[in-house]
Amino acid sequence: IVDKAIAAANKLDRDELLFSYKGILYPVTLCSPEVFRAMESLEARSDDIILAGYPKSGTNWLGQILSDLVAISEKKIQNKESSMNDEELEEFPYLEIGDTGKYERMNKLPSRRIVFTHLLPENLPRSIFKNKAKILLLIRNPKDVATSFYHFSNGMSTLPSYETWDDFFIAFMTKRMPWGCYFEYLSKWNKYAADENVMTITYEELKENPVLGVKNIAAFFGISLTEKELQTVVERSSFQSMKKNSQKTHGTFGNVFFRKGGVSDWKNLFNEDQNEKMDKAFEEHVGGTKLGTKLKY
Ligand code: A3P
Repeated sequence: IVDKAIAAANKLDRDELLFSYKGILYPVTLCSPEVFRAMESLEARSDDIILAGYPKSGTNWLGQILSDLVAISEKKIQNKESSMNDEELEEFPYLEIGDTGKYERMNKLPSRRIVFTHLLPENLPRSIFKNKAKILLLIRNPKDVATSFYHFSNGMSTLPSYETWDDFFIAFMTKRMPWGCYFEYLSKWNKYAADENVMTITYEELKENPVLGVKNIAAFFGISLTEKELQTVVERSSFQSMKKNSQKTHGTFGNVFFRKGGVSDWKNLFNEDQNEKMDKAFEEHVGGTKLGTKLKY
């Protein structure tokens, strides 16, 4: 899917790369209004595992952890470095990326299904909430998200590139990002953060203590782990091992997906004024809220 999207994007001009749907921008080579409309036919299940996160929050990392957890619970863990190889997956894991037939096929897949999404809660199929699918909400320091998104935009032809970091910063702060504005994303998800079926994890806490993070995620999804299995999941999802394996899992764009994998790289890009502007926007949108408080930076 990604290779096709890249080939299609290479033929487009910069201003043709995004389209707007319900007031939010998306890449034309990955998403479409028809697919968004077809999405409502997804029949969510209570044992589905939904990974929700804004782009560049660490989706691929958590995806690796979740697929290993499911493989362990089904006693199907395989002895290859990663279980994230798109070519071997029955369905591309991003909910909103695919063709209009995707949801009918997904409805036929056996449990437990793992689904990633960058969408706002209001744009998800209603059955996710109605049928009480469990949602792991992944959030990350907005400054590192912006930093990661800047480098990613300049490395992926499916997204508009930026001549300078300052240009990107303005676009990020003025809601001209694919999948919308991160502050609005946090603010909208805040309303769901206290729900029984939603667990929030920050990129930073998982980085600081991956053993505890993986343990908590497994417990939330009702998956029991031996100490050895826990260690295996942590080792296989380390930045080093995912990066090492990235050519196999993500093809020639492996390096773009697995860039630095750390905390506070924003300090290499932000100037004082940008730092203050982002602090202010953060306070305005999510200061003092559940998610805002979790995202201390
Ligand atoms: P950086 O650009 O800051 O390095 P996503 O998967 O949502 O696109 O997020 C990508 C970000 O997650 C990138 O951040 C990437 O390096 C980081 N990442 C990917 N795998 C990781 C891992 N195993 N551990 C820590 N960070 C990881």
